Amino acid sequence: MRPKVTVVGAGNVGASVAQYTVEKELADVVLVDVIEGVPQGKGLDLLQAGPIHHYDSRLTGSNSYDETGNSDIVVVTAGFPRKPGMTRDDLLFKNAEVVQVVTQEVARRSPNAILIMVTNPLDAMVQLAWKVSGFPPHRVMGMAGILDSARFRTFIAMELGVSVENVTAFVLGGHGDTMVPLPRYSTVAGIPITELLPRDKIDALVKRTANGGAEIVALLKTGSAFYAPAAAVVEMMEAILKDKKKILPCAAYLDGQYGVKGLYVGVPVKLGRMGVEQVIEIKLTPEEDVAFKKSAAAVRELVEKLKL
Ligand code: LAC
Repeated sequence: MRPKVTVVGAGNVGASVAQYTVEKELADVVLVDVIEGVPQGKGLDLLQAGPIHHYDSRLTGSNSYDETGNSDIVVVTAGFPRKPGMTRDDLLFKNAEVVQVVTQEVARRSPNAILIMVTNPLDAMVQLAWKVSGFPPHRVMGMAGILDSARFRTFIAMELGVSVENVTAFVLGGHGDTMVPLPRYSTVAGIPITELLPRDKIDALVKRTANGGAEIVALLKTGSAFYAPAAAVVEMMEAILKDKKKILPCAAYLDGQYGVKGLYVGVPVKLGRMGVEQVIEIKLTPEEDVAFKKSAAAVRELVEKLKL
């Protein structure tokens, strides 16, 4: 039997997550959305791509949560995206309402699932979902770091004219303006980029990375990025479902690590079948530590507004 994945929200991110999931034959997918016909239509359409793209994964679209029972993973993408000029934080209260309801609905039907949150403002929405679900922290996490580091990797590869496959990068902190890309830990074929690029170039790439989501919102005008966010979610799902023990940056619950307690924020973690199996603590320079703490403080400020 294939694993079962529920994707809540059949917008661009949700539909792309469903697409990549079945293309890799990782799981059967239930796509849920409140808009009548949309999850069913997109589900059926993707099912009909199966004979051409060689997958047998099943897809079900639904306006109710009844089909979601006993999912191995639930991905929550439901909520409002940004419009040009908005920050992710501007979505806080509107999306908190959505995330609260969705989490209640999925958690009681899939009490053993792993929750991957995507809705913005990301870190605060993960904290909310963790509270509402009552799940242990290792089964609730957020997708952001992989996306932010994929953006950084893309820009580094473009700058140096090398394959993206040679480039690794680490981005820590909240998924917001205070995110902390770490050039020291970003490499090309194992060589830190600090050896390959001058400081001002690196600073420009870091800036473009932190602004990466807004750059796309400004271009699209009617919504935010979805291909790379969906690909990042699917990398997390694959690590979990195949128990790969892959080290990836995700929004994870910190219980004292990095000097932060009781808060979800982006850090490197080991992802396997149990979910977040370990938070990897790397030594930060004083400068990086200040930036990380500032980012965690910005997340905490948002979380406090939710009065959880
Ligand atoms: C972004 C949104 C999805 O970074 O947060 O593109």
